[in-house]
Amino acid sequence: MIDDDRISAEAQDSPKQEGAGRAVRRGVIALGGGAALFVLVSMAFDLGWLRDRGEPVKNREAPQAMHTFFPPGEQAIPDGPAGDAIKRGQAIFMNTRMNAKDFVGNHLSCSNCHLDGGRKADSAPMWAAWVSYPAYRKKNKQINTMEDRIKGCFTYSMNAQNSPTGGAPPAGHDVYKDLQTYMHWLATGAPTGKKMLGAGYPELDKPAGGYDPARGKLVYDAKCAVCHGSDGQGQRDLNGRLVFPPLWGPDSYNWGAGMARVNTAAGFIKANMPLGQGNSLTDQQAWDAAAFIDSQERPRDPRQKGSIADNAKANHGGDSYYGKVVGGRQLGAGTK
Ligand code: HEC
Ligand code: HEC
Repeated sequence: MIDDDRISAEAQDSPKQEGAGRAVRRGVIALGGGAALFVLVSMAFDLGWLRDRGEPVKNREAPQAMHTFFPPGEQAIPDGPAGDAIKRGQAIFMNTRMNAKDFVGNHLSCSNCHLDGGRKADSAPMWAAWVSYPAYRKKNKQINTMEDRIKGCFTYSMNAQNSPTGGAPPAGHDVYKDLQTYMHWLATGAPTGKKMLGAGYPELDKPAGGYDPARGKLVYDAKCAVCHGSDGQGQRDLNGRLVFPPLWGPDSYNWGAGMARVNTAAGFIKANMPLGQGNSLTDQQAWDAAAFIDSQERPRDPRQKGSIADNAKANHGGDSYYGKVVGGRQLGAGTK
């Protein structure tokens, strides 16, 4: 589902099913067509080898227990220079504002949206991302390396335009090397070139009646405000450190971010929020809450060159409130 173009989060075949698949295929070839084929094909369905390809298996229908990939735990980080790079990458991922401060223009960390340090399935986990790049992305119409992809999250999700250097880390910077070393390690044992179950954020079907920010405010007040604050600005501890991240306003992700699209936020929210109670909201509640959050003002889209209307046309099709008029004012002007 990444950028609506790549991951459809199809179930990963287990080694057992693959073995069964190969046996069935050999059987079909040996026996030739006709009744034997029919019997074997129905057997293959029973074995779970063949699926109805017209109906992609969606993450949200798969219980967490079915996720077959487990990244290594922190205690498995090796000693030596590689281990040091993994630890630096992990530190950047967990506390980006502190450990890559030159390139961060808001109050978020990578791990605020890629949960459990990029380990959690259905929150665009880094082990699944690692094995799916380089990849073509519609967002910028070219092959993206992992470095390009990380740069994208700095530019939009971390609002790098407002950072001390005014942009994402330059090409080849150590921040990329450390983050990639961490991701590579998280992906230890993961298969390349295969869509892994739990990759990306789940895709939620749009409710028949659409979605509504006013209804979303009710969901927000009841189930989200306790942590994220009734003003959406998150909460700090007594030392001023942010414990709950902001959802809109100057310290949040900008208008160009994936999370600023209602469909993406809805999938994230459904699977992961309220924190610790993923999949407790109905699809409708997740879409409405996403619509409420993503119809608030946030930092400017760094891609904007001409007017908001021009940029809306160029970059904001689909489920985005960018450029729309909500509560009497046009969204997209930016917060700073
Ligand atoms: C505000 C939430 C948010 C933050 C913060 C964030 N990301 Fe992301 N990230 C996303 C979203 C949403 C996507 C899905 C792609 C899209 O729709 O644009 C994504 C996708 C990715 C991917 C590709 C995942 C895949 O399966 O293809 C990588 C890699 C990634 N982010 C790395 C990072 C890193 C590294 C950081 C910190 C520097 C970071 N992200 C910070 C929201 C965030
Ligand atoms: C128990 C506290 C808690 C509740 C309740 C909660 N969240 Fe969160 N939320 C968090 C934390 C903590 C994170 C960051 C995750 C991390 O760093 O591990 C987060 C992250 C997020 C993010 C991505 C990061 C960002 O700041 O943009 C969004 C979006 C979000 N929550 C939306 C919601 C919505 C919508 C609800 C209500 C349905 C909700 N949350 C309820 C604690 C909570």
